[in-house]
Amino acid sequence: METVMHVLLTGAAGFIGQHVLEQLLKRGHEVRVLDSLRPDVHRSGAAWTLPHDGVEALVGDVRDRDFVSRAVSGVDGVIHLAAKVGLGVDLDDMPDYASSNDLGTAELLAGMARAGVSRLTLASSMVVYGEGFGYCAEHGAVRPGPRVESALAIGDFEPPCPVCGRGLAVGLVDEETSFDPRNAYATSKAAQEFYAANWARATGGSAAMMRYHNVYGPGMPRDTPYAGVASIFTSALRRGEAPRVFEDGRQRRDFVHVRDVAAATVLACERSQAGVRAYNVGSGTPRTVGDMALALARALDGPRPAVTGQYRLGDVRHITADSSRLRRELGWSPAVDFADGMAELAALSVAEPARPRVALG
Ligand code: UD1
Repeated sequence: METVMHVLLTGAAGFIGQHVLEQLLKRGHEVRVLDSLRPDVHRSGAAWTLPHDGVEALVGDVRDRDFVSRAVSGVDGVIHLAAKVGLGVDLDDMPDYASSNDLGTAELLAGMARAGVSRLTLASSMVVYGEGFGYCAEHGAVRPGPRVESALAIGDFEPPCPVCGRGLAVGLVDEETSFDPRNAYATSKAAQEFYAANWARATGGSAAMMRYHNVYGPGMPRDTPYAGVASIFTSALRRGEAPRVFEDGRQRRDFVHVRDVAAATVLACERSQAGVRAYNVGSGTPRTVGDMALALARALDGPRPAVTGQYRLGDVRHITADSSRLRRELGWSPAVDFADGMAELAALSVAEPARPRVALG
């Protein structure tokens, strides 16, 4: 058993936050939770149901300096999940990503420095790498540029070799791959990491950057702009509709179960050493979005997925990373198999009414 810590968990009412909270408590840590319960995520008038009476809960915003000072006082470490997620609708979303994610993190780090809190575990994302790597038969490993709308519009979804325009084989990115964020959310996650690294160097603290893949599982946001694709497909199937698969369905993601992500996050909080360390957090087995849609359609005995050719500007074609550092250094391994996880999601979508686990007041 690790040493018992007093941990501040931000974004604790969110999808990943609720699972992290459960695991922190299971492992005997003392937890203070914080969430702003922002109405665009949690619906207005939301009241917060906590799984445990002994948890101290604060409702407020990490951009509020006095609130942050109270929140960080007396804790040994912070797990920072509070953020605006999703792809964003248009450029009008940009200021809110910058404010919620970057200003929020900067205030939190400043508060931690004032209070002498030296451990940070930060929710980052695989999207910081952009398109990642591709292998060209002629030019070897290359970094494809952003996809252009004129190509997407005619169904040319694969990003080409930036030198010769040929097709590329997909490579797995490791943590040393440089950043190439392609949208406001990805940019805000990259900036959070840079601020956290500045803080760690200036204070001698430890910052573990958890670069999550596509997280799915119980409690996934549904029917909100923040719903991930697995949740969107499940909702469609429950309405008796075919899941609508964008592009040609061959875009790859690594779908990682939320309990595995929560376990990785708690391990990093307990074990990471002083300094800055990034960890890719994925199951290690990339799938196509089309295959995922098929798995859910089968599990719910619904119509076959419809591949629509639609696309979202700013979407990355393939996001697949090598998560072996996390296994090697923190002793983590994913416990939930893809087929079991998807079956669980399908079963829960039938059993549970479509509402978040934050109860409505
Ligand atoms: C997701 C997360 C993001 C995280 C990233 C890490 C969400 C909403 N976003 O981004 O926070 O940082 O993983 O890897 O959870 N698609 C369809 N049909 C739909 C909707 C989407 O086919 O109705 C496709 C998209 O075009 C995309 C894929 O599914 O190719 C995944 O989309 P989405 O679930 O929104 O996640 P990411 O953009 O990968």
